[in-house]
Parts: sequence; C-alpha cells; structure tokens
Amino acid sequence: MKKTIIGALALVASMTMNAQNAPQLRADNISEVIAAMTLEEKAQLLTGGGNDGFVGSGAMLGHQKKIVAGAAGLTVAIPRLGIPATVVADGPAGVHIDAHRDGTTQTFFATGFPVGTCLASTWNTDLVYQVGKAIGNETLEYGVDVILGPGMNLHRSPLCGRNFEYYSEDPVVTGLIGTAMVRGIQTQGVGVSAKHFAVNSQESDRTRVDERLSKRALRELYLRGFEMMVRESKPWTVMSAYNKINGQYAQGSKDLLTSVLRNEWGFDGIVMTDWIGKRSDLPTELEVAAGNDLMMPGYPAQVDDIVQAVKQGRLDIKDVDRNVRNMLEYIVKTPRFKGYAYSNQPDVKAHARITRQSSTEGMVLLKNEPLTVGGERVLPVKNLKQVALFGVNSYDFFSGGLGSGCVNVPYVVDMVQGLKNVGVTTTSQLTEIYQNYVKYAKAKLKADKNPEMWFLDQGQPKLDEIEITRRCVDHEQAVADAAIITIGRQAGEGLDRQIEGEFNLTDHEKAMIARVSDAFHAAGKPVIVIINSGSMMETASWRDRVDAILVAWQPGQEGGNSVADVLTGKANPSGRLTMTWPISAADVPSTKNFPQDPEYYNLTEKLYGGYMPGVNFTNHEEDIYVGYRYFDTFKRKVAYPFGFGLSYTDFEMSKPTAKVAGDNVELTITVKNVGKTAGKQVAQVYVKAPKGACEKPAKELKAFAKTRDLQPGESQTLRMTVPRRLLTSFDEAGDQWKGDAGTYTFLFGENVENIKAQAAVKLGTLTEKVTDALAPRQALQLLHQ
Ligand code: BGC
Repeated sequence: MKKTIIGALALVASMTMNAQNAPQLRADNISEVIAAMTLEEKAQLLTGGGNDGFVGSGAMLGHQKKIVAGAAGLTVAIPRLGIPATVVADGPAGVHIDAHRDGTTQTFFATGFPVGTCLASTWNTDLVYQVGKAIGNETLEYGVDVILGPGMNLHRSPLCGRNFEYYSEDPVVTGLIGTAMVRGIQTQGVGVSAKHFAVNSQESDRTRVDERLSKRALRELYLRGFEMMVRESKPWTVMSAYNKINGQYAQGSKDLLTSVLRNEWGFDGIVMTDWIGKRSDLPTELEVAAGNDLMMPGYPAQVDDIVQAVKQGRLDIKDVDRNVRNMLEYIVKTPRFKGYAYSNQPDVKAHARITRQSSTEGMVLLKNEPLTVGGERVLPVKNLKQVALFGVNSYDFFSGGLGSGCVNVPYVVDMVQGLKNVGVTTTSQLTEIYQNYVKYAKAKLKADKNPEMWFLDQGQPKLDEIEITRRCVDHEQAVADAAIITIGRQAGEGLDRQIEGEFNLTDHEKAMIARVSDAFHAAGKPVIVIINSGSMMETASWRDRVDAILVAWQPGQEGGNSVADVLTGKANPSGRLTMTWPISAADVPSTKNFPQDPEYYNLTEKLYGGYMPGVNFTNHEEDIYVGYRYFDTFKRKVAYPFGFGLSYTDFEMSKPTAKVAGDNVELTITVKNVGKTAGKQVAQVYVKAPKGACEKPAKELKAFAKTRDLQPGESQTLRMTVPRRLLTSFDEAGDQWKGDAGTYTFLFGENVENIKAQAAVKLGTLTEKVTDALAPRQALQLLHQ
C-alpha cells in the first residue's frame, strides 16, 4: 500500500516537473516542442479522433460530440505541451454540424449553400470567393478550425454518386473555381481540406477500388485542378482519397503525397487521410512515410503501430518528426490555438443573401421556346397568377445532397414558398395533396429505415413520386395559368447512380410529363420543368414535350426563391453547364467501365472478398477523352454541350486579342449585350494547340470570365491570363509537360460548340520535367483518334 502511494506521488511529481519544464507550443518554438515530445505523444498527434489526450475514439462522421457536436473529427490535444485539440467539420456546401445539442435549446443551424455543380455553373470566381468567405466565417464562428472541402474530383462519369460535391468534368473549371473557394474560406483564418486527392471518381467500393489510368490522364485531368488550386491558394490541408491509383492506395503513395504534392507543387500544409480505420493491407507506417500527417478519424491501434514501427526500425523517426512539424505548423495557425472566442452566432441573414445570389446565378436555362410558332418565349413568364406544381420535389425541394456533404439547414425555401414570395399562388387542391403526401412519406421513410442506408439520416432522401391521374391534370389545367413540374434527383456518399430511374426518368415521371403536357398544351398553357438535381440527367427523350427547362441543381436553402426569381425575370439566368449533357448515358465513353450494379448494397460480402471488374477496379479506357474532350473531338451529338446555357438577352463577342507577355498569354474579348434585357455573359476560351507528338483533343478550355450585369447596348472588355504552362500536354515517355512550338488559336465562345471569335499567338517549345509517378501496372486499351 505504502509502495503504491509513494509510486503515485513520484508520478505526480514527475508530471508536475514535466509540465513545469515542458515548452508550451508557440509559433516560434516548434523545434523545441518536437524535441520535448515523447514518441507516444508524436504518434498520438498523427492519429486524430479523440480529445484531451484521449486518442483514437474512432469517431465517425457526425458522431463527434466533444467541443463541436456533429463535427467530423478532432486532432489530439497534448495539454502538457500546450497543444490544443482542433476541430474539423464537413463541407463543402456549408458547415456540417449538429443543429441541436444536448442540454441546450440553442440551435446551431448552418447556411446551406449551393452544391459544387451549382456554384461552378456560375462561372463567377468573385461570387464563389464571396461564398467561400461566408462559409469560412461560419466555420470560424461555430468553433471549427478546418472545413472538409472543397470537393475537387472530376466528373468522369455522370453516374458518380458524389458529382454534386464536385465542380466539373473540366480541370480548369475545377482549378479556378476551387482556387476562389479556398481563398475565400481561408480569408477567415480557418483552413480547408481539399478532397479527395486523387481520382476518387466513383463511390462503389470507394475504399478499395483501383482506378487504372494513364499517367497522361492522371496529370492532365485528375491532378490538374488540384495542382492549380494548390499553387494558387495554399490550402491548409488536403485529404488523401480512399481509392487506389494504378494499384497503389492514394494514402500509401509517397509519389503522390510527397513527390508531386509537396515537392513539385510546393504544398506546405498537412495531408489527412479520408475517414478510414486501420487498413489490413496498408500498414500505418507506410501511410506516415508516404506523407499523411494525420490519420483520420484515428484508431488507438494506429498509435501503437507508429510507436512499434519506429522502435523496430520499420519507420524512420525523421518521417514522424517531419509530419509532427507539419501538424504543429498547422495547429499554431488555427483559431483554437489562438484562443478565438467564437460566437456560435454567425450572421446567417447576410449569408442567406449570398447563398441566394449564388444559387440564382448557378441556375442553367436549357430550353425556352414559344408556345406557338412566332410567339414569345415562355420565360420569363408574364401575368402569372396561379400555377399547378407537379412533382414531389416541388414540395420537398432538395437543397443539397446526401452524406457527409449535407448541411443541417435552418429551412429550405421550396417552390410553393418561392413562388408565393413573388406573388404567384399554387393551386390549392394539388398543393394540399402533395404537402400531405410529403409529410406521410417522410414519416414512413423514417419508420422503415434500413440501417445499411446510414446516409439517409444525412440530408433529404428522395421520396417516391405519386401517380398523377388524367382527371387530376384536367382539373389543374382548368384553374392554373401554367404547369411547373419539378424532377428531383438525389445522390450521395457511398452509392453511385443507376441509369434506369436515376439518370433516366422513371415510368411515373414519363407519364406525368406526358399527361401534364398534353392537357396544358391543349389549353394553350405552358409547361416548365425544373431539374432539382446535383448532377445531370437524360433530357433528350422528353424535352420536346415541354416548353422550358431550368436546371436548378441542389441550390442550397434559398432554392425556391432563386427559381422564382429566374422564372419571373427578376433575375436573368447566367449559369452555364460545367459538364456535357449526353443524349444517353451509354454515349459517355466511361459508362462501359463504370460500376452499375443496382444490388451493390447486397454485394458487400462478395466485394470485400473479391474481384469484380468495374467495381474492384476501373479501367479508364476513355483516357483523356472525358466529357467534351470526347464529344467535341469525336464529333458526337450531345443533348446540351459543355458551357451551354440560355439567357433572356443576346450577346455579341468581338475584338478578340491574344498576346504573349512573359510566361503568360494575355487575352481580351469585348462582350456586348445586344438584346433587350440586362444580363451577364460568360466568355469561355478554348485553345487549339499545334499538332505535336502527343495526340490532342480538338480544343480544351483554358480560361473564362464573366461580365457584370450589362444593360442593353452596354459592352465590357474582359481580360484573362493563361499561363504558358497550362498550354502543355503531358508527355508520358519523357515524364514531362510539353508545349509544342507553333500557333495556338484561342477560340472565344458561348459554349464548346458555339465559338464567336478567335485570336492566335505563336509560342516556342516548353518542357518541364516532373517525377515519374503512378504509372499503370497493366496494359490499358486506351481510346485514340
Ligand atoms: C468522406 C469525406 C468526409 C469524411 C468525414 C468520408 O467518408 O469521404 O468526404 O469529409 O468522411 O466525414
């Protein structure tokens, strides 16, 4: 007994001594703190998840209740050295935290901003920057240090379940929009985690799938957006993806995380792993050595792995110390370290205005025809008093997608409310039927919840449509001035989309569109379709039946207001597609190498034991021909081309100039509003590069700019800069970026198919040698011209 007391006293004495002697972390004593850390403490710091020195709770999405309830995770506190825990919470469409907390009636709702596709469709980097500032401010004021976004993966396939979180099929759109977002967020003194690095282009078997692709496609497409953003905006953190790339886990690839990201691009933040436990086939020490500074969410066994690996000589302490230094450099920047007194009360009213402006500007008008030949186009609608609103999502408007990317929003303005706010009522009987149905269906869904579908708690799941009878439509046609049909699509983390019923219309939806159009057209009344989806869908088979189609995306909490503003002409649509809308899913070259098993969730056992083409591995046979690079080069017809979007006015583009200035090409183009309504236009610049050794797409987007709101007759000269480096192709044989000498023609257009003006410059050769990284291990049957 006595011995125990003496032992305990000795321990307390040594702890006190330690605390007295131990340096306390400051921005200028990081080396000293590292020197004072034990190996266990270092291992803890690299393993996130817990709090107050309590490591590796294995806390998963939304289960983190300490400090900020509903945040995705924490880094570990080491009080002895004055190292606080820091908090990371999901994004990218706003701060994902719990709205309600135990023991208080206070609420913690975060503003729901438009999803990635909608934001990118604004083609307005200033606006995206403003959205970033607002998101960053909510991150700060809710006590969070890092927001887990933006999502920077490419839309390789229209079927990827998380496309809504990503920006585009094009790396330059991704890079420029991502840069604006990161800069905006980080102005607030909080960090981002740009994700998922890299090639996380499918959800099926996402934690293991091997994405097999050429070094060229990897560099030119899948890494380029990340590269532009890292070089231009200095993100605090990057999240390493779950998947493998050419047989190597992204999280285990030193080439990717160190040689390319840090050494080539100059990244100096921390890399955290995407949320996975200890992997059976990727030892923790390899993750540390590869350059992951933070294992998230962090498991106790990983602390032990690091300690043992160092002791047994399998992991160099220098690698551990390098990562610890990165972690400490990150920690000293955080608001938590600086003791920022957050309010838990961000200015949500001001942010609601920003989200509304960005959702309005992201909406894309695909079709706008007159009801009769020679008549006026149906939009903006005039003298609209009462509309019949069809489709369950008119009444349960999706603000965002499912999974970690959802936001617990204070409200969602649906179509009924949005129209009401501009003085348009909805027909009473139909509204009542749908509103009652939505209440019932939501309650039923909750009661029937399948525990496997965990993500149904995270966001608004899609409710089944109700059948619209002929009688109902006839009744509505008699009392309404117009019909609006909302087609909603939901998708999210962990699950890819199916062609039937998701990319395509369901039978119910087809019947609804047919019945409503027949009845309303017979009465000379317009039919307008609103697409409330985070990504694209099939339109070619049904678009002729309706008069107007507006893509509202998943536009955040103010969606209904934005739709109403566009429909009534309070706002002139200026969104443009950032991805090609094909005629059918089968037209997209990646479709034949994309998992499409509706039974995916029942296949888990088979998957984890197995080897299933298109699920366990995915061959990128389309190579660099993703999106318009394919359709434009191989001259295939599409439903709506990349860059497409209608306006209520017309624009001209003239006086293009291009001149070489140092390492850049400077471009100008004059845009004039030649129509009758004020509006904004996007000038898109594609380049046709000289034919060199590398086969090249017909043209590739290299820059874009958006005008201010131009009054009728008003002009604006837009200026853009294209770095010479961006005009190179990746030469695999030499592991180098190669710009061929010759004439580069800059094509200024409204979309990839509609070029209005051009200017050319002559450039010399440029080569830039880079690391030989991530070569494919199997021969791939790549698409060629
Ligand atoms: C997702 C990430 C997310 C993380 C934390 C993962 O499952 O892939 O995007 O940030 O969980 O919630």
